[in-house]
Amino acid sequence: MAGSHWISLPRIEGIASRQAHADLPAETYERELGREGFYGPSTQMYHRHAPTGWSEVEGPLRPRALDTGRIAQTDRSPWNATPLLHNASVKIRFWQSDNAMDHLVRNADGDELLFIHRGAGDLFCDYGRLSLREGDYVILPRGTMWRIENDLPISVLLVEASGDSYRLPEKGIVGHHAVFDPAMLDVPRIDDGFLAQQTEDRWQVRIKRQGRISRVTYPYNPLDAIGWHGSLLPVRLNWRAIRPLMSARYHLPPSAHTTFAASRFVVCTFAPRPMETDPGALKVPFFHNNDDYDEVIFYHRGEFFSRDNIHPGMLTLHPAGITHGPHPKALEVGKKALRKQTDEVAVMIDSRDPLEVADLPEGVEWTGYVDSWKDGDA
Ligand SMILES: [Fe+2]
Repeated sequence: MAGSHWISLPRIEGIASRQAHADLPAETYERELGREGFYGPSTQMYHRHAPTGWSEVEGPLRPRALDTGRIAQTDRSPWNATPLLHNASVKIRFWQSDNAMDHLVRNADGDELLFIHRGAGDLFCDYGRLSLREGDYVILPRGTMWRIENDLPISVLLVEASGDSYRLPEKGIVGHHAVFDPAMLDVPRIDDGFLAQQTEDRWQVRIKRQGRISRVTYPYNPLDAIGWHGSLLPVRLNWRAIRPLMSARYHLPPSAHTTFAASRFVVCTFAPRPMETDPGALKVPFFHNNDDYDEVIFYHRGEFFSRDNIHPGMLTLHPAGITHGPHPKALEVGKKALRKQTDEVAVMIDSRDPLEVADLPEGVEWTGYVDSWKDGDA
C-alpha cells in the first residue's frame, strides 16, 4: 500500500525571516500555524499587530484560567478530587487532603500521574514505599493499589491517561540521557517502613472503573508483598532532576520540554533555564495556534515570564483554534532582553482531543483572562 506525505513545501512570500523564531522583520509579530504539536508542517507569519490583540471573544474558544487556590474542598480520597478538565483520553483533577488516607485506591481506568504541588508524605503501594515531596511527579501504572500518608496538607494535580499508559518521549538526536537520565527515575522500595504497615488490620480498597467506585474490604492490609520482580513499575521524578534543553541562539518550542507521553496527550515541564542571548533570537514564546492540540499549563512556582497576573496554583487552557502567545508586558521585557533567566516551574499538558471544562466551584475561574492581553493590562 502506498504511503503518504504531508503537503509540506517551504516557500517564502513577502517580507519574512528565513530562520523561524529569529531575526523577525522590524515591527512585526511572528505567529506560527502548525500541525502535530511542534513536529508537523508549520508556517511562520509576520503580522503588523499582535495576534492576541482582539477586542472581544465570544463563544466557547476563549482562553480560560482557573485558580486551584480557590478550591476549598479537601478530602482524604483522590476519588473525591475536584474535576477540572476532561475528555475520553485524559482527566485532570485537583486533590487536596489534610490527613493521611484511611483507605487504599486503585485506578482501573488508566495510568495516574500525580504532580505534588504542595506538601509531602509517603506513598505506600503494591511495590513498597516512596517518599513524596513538592515538585515530584509520580506515575502509577493502571491497577496499582496505593495510599498516601501525610502529616501536613498535600495538594496534587492528578492526570489520568484514560485507557492508556505513560511512556518516555523520543529523545531523538540529543540521546537518551538528555533532559533527564532514565536512571533518575526512582521506584518504591520494600523497606522497614513498608514492612511495618503490613498489619492484620482491616483495609478497604476503592477501585475506580469507568468512573464508578467499587469497594473491596480485606481483614488485613493487602499491601503485603515481600518482594517483586519485573519491569512494570511506578516511577518518581522531581522537576529538579530535569536539565532543560536550551539554545542561546534559538527559542526552542515547548515540545523540547516533553517529560512524559501518552497516546493522545503529552506532559511537558517548564523548568528554570537561562534566556536566549543571541540579539536576534526570540526570548519569549512565539505566538502560535497549535492547531491539533488543546494546551493546558499548570503553574507550580516562580514568576511566569510570558504571562501577567498568573500565580502558582493557576491553570490555563488555550483551546486549539485560537491563537495564544505572550502578554504585552512580557513581550517588551523580551525585546529589551531584560531577563537573564526564567525561574518558572510549570506543567504543560497538550491534548490531541478537545478538553471539556468541568462545572467548577464558584470563584475558581478568572473570567477576565480573555482580556488580559489588552495593552496596559498588567
Ligand atoms: Fe502554546
